[in-house]
Amino acid sequence: MDKFKRTLITTALPYANGPIHIGHLAGVYVPADIYARYLRLKNEDVLLIGGSDEHGVPITLKAKNEGITPQDVVDKFHGIIKKSFEDFGISFDVYSRTSAKIHHETASEFFKKLYDDGKFIEKTSEQYYDEANNQFLADRYITGTCPKCGFEKAYGDQCESCGTSLSPTELINPTSMISGNQPILKETKHWYLPLNEYEPWLKEWILEGHKEWKPNVYGQVKSWIDGGLHPRAVTRDLNWGVPVPVEGAEGKVLYVWFDAPIGYISATKELTADWEKYWKDPETRMLHFIGKDNIVFHCIIFPTMLKAEGSYNLPENVPANEFLNLENDKISTSRNWAVWLHEYLEDFPGKEDVLKYVLTANAPETKDNDFTWKDFQTRNNNELVAILGNFVNRALVLTQKYYNGEVPEIGKLTESDKNTLAEISKIKGEVEKSLDSFRIREALKNAMDLARLGNKYLADEEPWKVVKTDKKRVKTIMNISLQITANLTICLEPFLPFSMNKLRGFLNLEKLDWDKLGNTELLAAGHKTNKPTLLFEKIEDSVIEAQLKKLQDTKKANEIAEAVTNPAKENIEFDDFGKIDIRVGIVLEAEKVPKTKKLLKLIVDTGIDKRTIISGVAEFYKPEDLVGKQVSVLVNLAPKKLRGIESQGMILFAEDADGTLRLVAPEVDVKPGSEIK
Ligand code: 2FM
Ligand code: ZN
Repeated sequence: MDKFKRTLITTALPYANGPIHIGHLAGVYVPADIYARYLRLKNEDVLLIGGSDEHGVPITLKAKNEGITPQDVVDKFHGIIKKSFEDFGISFDVYSRTSAKIHHETASEFFKKLYDDGKFIEKTSEQYYDEANNQFLADRYITGTCPKCGFEKAYGDQCESCGTSLSPTELINPTSMISGNQPILKETKHWYLPLNEYEPWLKEWILEGHKEWKPNVYGQVKSWIDGGLHPRAVTRDLNWGVPVPVEGAEGKVLYVWFDAPIGYISATKELTADWEKYWKDPETRMLHFIGKDNIVFHCIIFPTMLKAEGSYNLPENVPANEFLNLENDKISTSRNWAVWLHEYLEDFPGKEDVLKYVLTANAPETKDNDFTWKDFQTRNNNELVAILGNFVNRALVLTQKYYNGEVPEIGKLTESDKNTLAEISKIKGEVEKSLDSFRIREALKNAMDLARLGNKYLADEEPWKVVKTDKKRVKTIMNISLQITANLTICLEPFLPFSMNKLRGFLNLEKLDWDKLGNTELLAAGHKTNKPTLLFEKIEDSVIEAQLKKLQDTKKANEIAEAVTNPAKENIEFDDFGKIDIRVGIVLEAEKVPKTKKLLKLIVDTGIDKRTIISGVAEFYKPEDLVGKQVSVLVNLAPKKLRGIESQGMILFAEDADGTLRLVAPEVDVKPGSEIK
């Protein structure tokens, strides 16, 4: 912190078209909150900024589907999100929203400044237009046939089957997802931020100047820059968002990803008249807490906007996290596959810290992680209850029992006492080291070591036995145990704020600064503590089963919905079926097709011959997983060239509701070449 006098922490603004779930919390809000609370305990000047991202095409479509206005949609979800954050205890200094007047003004002025300074390129191009709805179509809202692989449901920006990046005009038979009609091409003018011009500067600033950023962040940025940057449109034809403040731009708004990060600035403005100090004074350190899908926007595009504007600071670090899955499956708002924060708060009243603890202990910091209800229960019962709760309860209950709640005097120290006391200050250094480098999960483990230390100390010293023979010695043991408990209220405060508040109540202790951590005289002899209740309670199997049942029900509902939206195709005659030749094959070799995300090149023994087949399953199977596997091969499909390789046939896969592909294979091994009928 030496270079800096204060810290501005921003948290990705969640889209206001759905509630908050555990994935958002684990990736962004919990780590940011812990970090902000830590700095506040150190008496540092820190702001934690948040708000709802209320623009963008998906919100307009949701409104249309529900027959309400986009403002209705965002009002509803902004309310739910804001309240759930408050109840959960995310300690925002301000939680704003991008439909607010102050944001429209700020974003508009920001754009105008870049426009007036000649920082944009103006370009007219032909884009798809839906005549039935009188609107231009965002790339994601056009589907059609992929020109590379023939997949019929490719999107305007990418084919999900072969992984190719596309532009909408490359699609064969483009269709508007909004009306189902074929769109027409129409000329439209937009403003572009020429990212390519900033490439040398970005290389120097990040690739040379920020080698300390997390490897997942640095790596992603490097591959974007190495791949070459291009001008990026920052306006859209849409009637929901911040209007483009330029003559002749009627019906156009700022691109949601242009205005959203400016939301951090507007929120700061809403909070304080002194906002410029936090954004422009080089002695302010800016940190962006985000999930990995937001890296390019926060490390390349927003910094370029700030650089082009000229008067703002750039982020000092962007500690982005990976994703959290739920019970081995991707979290998905549309499939309702999530643990929703507002529902958790209803189902587990008073257990805010338990969720915070589990999401931190299992944070997806370096790789995607999985949340399971079983793990939630285990961490609560075996860690919060059995280690932390058990220790503080024994320390406080014995103090009530032996001394009517008064802290006893400390006497002569044994070697074990001295070692234990020395450990406390060591733990402080370790927690700091982890937190200062954004290893929040490791920091929690280090902080919990203090509770483990206390537990071990009590178990080793056994005051309940010693009390029978040496009453004086017990006073020292209990004094030390209480000092550890008091230290815990500091050490765990950033992680478990509700529980530490409760613990301070038991100890009759005020909130102490981080600097006091490691001090072994926090409680004077004679200080009166209060009767404790349990800090954490065991979670029973039935509670976990109820949550699992809820997820099972979701799965069932999704399957039914899928069956309805994906009914059987038209009947065919037996002769038509007879034309299809499907054989059992065996995969002999498999490798990834270079420069594609989804394609594998397989050599398959079909019983008739050995042939090459390209399959779009690299996301679901590693090459080595497929070698030696029996597969079903459509052998009389006309060959097709994919990425310059001729694919001679097709391997059959079953696709589940979320697009996961699984091999269709005989129940037991059969001879290659056997017909599938
Ligand atoms: O990915 C998202 O959910 C975006 N709404 C994040 C925006 S972050 C910032 F730029 F506001
Ligand atoms: Zn394709």
